[in-house]
Amino acid sequence: MDAIEKRKQRHIRLSLEEDVQADIGTGLEDVRLIHRALPEMDLKDASTGIELFGRRLSAPLIISAITGGTEKAKEINAVLASAAEDLDIGIGVGSQRIALENPETEHTFRVVRERAPSALVIGNLGCPQLSFGWGAREAQRCVEMIEADALAIHMNPLQEAIQVEGETHYRGVLGKVREVVDGIDVSVVMKETGCGVAYEEAVKLEEAGVEALDVSGVGGTSWAAVEHHIAREVGKREQEALGEVLWNWGIPTAVSVVETSKSTKLKIIASGGIRTGVEMAKAIALGADAVGMAKPFLEKAVEGPDALREHIRLILREFRTVMFLVGAGEVEELKRVPVIILGRTAEWLRLRGFSPEDYALRSV
Ligand SMILES: Cc1cc2nc3c(=O)[nH]c(=O)nc-3n(C[C@H](O)[C@H](O)[C@H](O)COP(=O)(O)O)c2cc1C
Repeated sequence: MDAIEKRKQRHIRLSLEEDVQADIGTGLEDVRLIHRALPEMDLKDASTGIELFGRRLSAPLIISAITGGTEKAKEINAVLASAAEDLDIGIGVGSQRIALENPETEHTFRVVRERAPSALVIGNLGCPQLSFGWGAREAQRCVEMIEADALAIHMNPLQEAIQVEGETHYRGVLGKVREVVDGIDVSVVMKETGCGVAYEEAVKLEEAGVEALDVSGVGGTSWAAVEHHIAREVGKREQEALGEVLWNWGIPTAVSVVETSKSTKLKIIASGGIRTGVEMAKAIALGADAVGMAKPFLEKAVEGPDALREHIRLILREFRTVMFLVGAGEVEELKRVPVIILGRTAEWLRLRGFSPEDYALRSV
C-alpha cells in the first residue's frame, strides 16, 4: 500500500473512531425560521425536488466528497452510491488524485457511477494538484472516469498546512481554475473542506467562471482535528500541537452561506456540520441551493445500506416537515421565507457588512 492509500485509510478510521468534530457551532443554531400557524398547504403537497447540474433530485441533498482509492473505500462508495440512486439525491466522490497517479485504483471510484447510473455525481480534485502543474486534461480525466455531472475542486489550505509534508502551494491557483473551467465539459464547483469561504474569494471565483461553491464551513468535521490525530499516531509533536490550536479555525457554515450567496450569483452548496433536515432547511432559507453532509453518511454507510437509507429518509422527512411549518410548497419558496439571525452569528455578519435587510427579515 502506498503513502496516499495509507493516508486515505487513516482518514476514514480516525474520522470514525476519534473526536474530529469542531467545538464551535455552524451558526445555524442562531438561525430561526418563522413558524406559520396557518401554513395554507397540506404537508403531503410539499415538493422538495430541485434540478442541479442537469439532474433532477428528490431534495436538495448531496452526499459530500468522502473517499476512493482503496478496497475499503470502494465498499463505502458502493453503499453511498446505491443510496443516492434509490433516494434520488446527489453524491460526490473523494479526491481522484490517487486514481490519476495509479490507474489501478480507478475502479474504487467508477463503482459510484455503476451503482448510481442516474444520480447527480460530482468528481473531485484538489487545488494543490493544480498548482503543481495538473490542469484541464487531468480534470477532464476525472470527469470521464465516473461520467461526472460536475467537478469539485477542493480548497484545503488548513489541512495542507498541518499535514506532515503538506502541499501548501496555493499561489496561482485562480489562474489554473480558470483554465479548468474553460477546458472541461462540465460545471466546476469550488469546495472548501471545513473552513468556509469568504465573499472575497467567492467573487473572484465567480469572475473565474466557476458555477458553484460548496462552502463547507466550520461546525462539523475539522481537518485540523483529523491531522492532529494522525500527527499524534506518527509521533509528530509540532503538527499535533498545530492541529489542536487550529481545531476550530474558519468561517462558520451559516456565515459563509450568507456572505457568498448575497455577494454572487454562484450556486451555493451549504455543508460543514449540517446534521438534520431542520438545519438543511435553514441553510436553504439563508440562500443555499443545496446542502451536503459527509461524516453522518460515512458513519451510517459503515453500519450498512439499511442504516444509511433509513437515516437519509429521516433527514428528508425532517426537511419536508419544516417546509410545511414555514408554509413553503416548493424549495424556491423556502429560499424566500423570512429568517432571523441571533447572537454571535448576526454580530459576525454585521461586522462583515451584512445586515438583516440582506437576509430578509419579513415576508414579502
Ligand atoms: C473521511 C473524510 C474524507 C474526506 N475526503 C474529502 C476529499 O477527498 N475531498 C473533499 O473535497 N472533501 C473531503 N472531505 C470533506 C467533506 O466533503 C466535507 O466538506 C467536510 O467533512 C465537512 O462536512 P461534514 O461536517 O458533514 O463532515 C472528507 C471528509 C471526511 C469525513
